[in-house]
Amino acid sequence: SLPSSVRIVEVGPRDGLQNEPIAVSVAARIALIEGLVDAGLKAVEAGSFVSPKWVPQMADTAAVLAGIKRREGVRYPVLVPNLQGLEAAEAAGAKDISIFAAASESFSKKNINCSIAESLDRFRPVAERALAEERRLRGYVSCVLGCPYEGEIAPEAVARVSRALYDMGCAEISLGDTIGTGTPLKAKRMIEAVARHVPMRQLAVHFHDTYGQALANILASLELGIGVVDSSVAGLGGCPYAKGASGNVATEDVVYMLNGMGIATGIDLDRLAKVGRTVLQQLNRAPASKVAQALAAK
Ligand code: HMG
Ligand code: MG
Repeated sequence: SLPSSVRIVEVGPRDGLQNEPIAVSVAARIALIEGLVDAGLKAVEAGSFVSPKWVPQMADTAAVLAGIKRREGVRYPVLVPNLQGLEAAEAAGAKDISIFAAASESFSKKNINCSIAESLDRFRPVAERALAEERRLRGYVSCVLGCPYEGEIAPEAVARVSRALYDMGCAEISLGDTIGTGTPLKAKRMIEAVARHVPMRQLAVHFHDTYGQALANILASLELGIGVVDSSVAGLGGCPYAKGASGNVATEDVVYMLNGMGIATGIDLDRLAKVGRTVLQQLNRAPASKVAQALAAK
């Protein structure tokens, strides 16, 4: 049975912008986040505290957090890869911290320069400290439906890493189809394997739309009881460590589908689409989203 409402986690200002070749100014990043909140988003990923040598687009996340007018009831999570990142996030006043691991050894090495086991050892003290400070923790697992270096990934490998992040105290685990190769039945089997270890209500899905399968995968996930969906305005982005991967499923596409199904999101689609058009102008690119194209042509 389908949920009556879905919580959308907007990842465009982080996952989207981190892989755009044109870097967006701090002022534009702030305006993007505030525009998304005005459109009704209640969780907007604001950036990451990672090495600026690895991901230069996310430098200045502290200035972005300092610049936004934080709205009551809205979460502004940031990615943190280690204690150094957590310290920077603390100094910037981030209340929501996301740690990120992978279900693929090769991807873990390329993305965060360590093995899966090393990454979990590295995240454990980060999680402990963030929880002691009463920050909310989210955990990501990458490559849940395939790896750019290893190909197929076993659902059990995804379940193991998800379980480890859950045991560290993550309130939510987001399952990332980093390269967008997943299809609905595969997605269902993977989620079922994870849900044997982590309660379904604490799982989120994070589909990149490289092969145009994201909406179908989301629908399949909702049918299983998933209630949290990650998406990126205008379908921005990709992944710097997964060549050829395109952006997240567009928030416009998800909201249009859910509106049509009578599933509430609290998001104003027209306002959202306007925010998308503004950032696309800054990036000098066309929307990946069919819904965004259709709304722009109206
Ligand atoms: P490393 O080189 O192994 O780290 O990188 P290190 O501890 O040896 O430090 C090396 C240098 O980095 C030092 O600077 C540190 O200070 C600096 P130097 O002395 O050379 O000048 N450093 C930092 N600087 C700022 N903030 C930090 C930090 N930590 C170290 N937190 C590291 C390891 C994890 C830092 C690096 O690999 C990194 O930053 N990776 C970033 C990866 C990333 O952001 N990927 C994209 C996000 S994940 C994603 O997109 C997937 C997701 O969307 C889900 C999905 O779709 O699958 C979430
Ligand atoms: Mg992603």
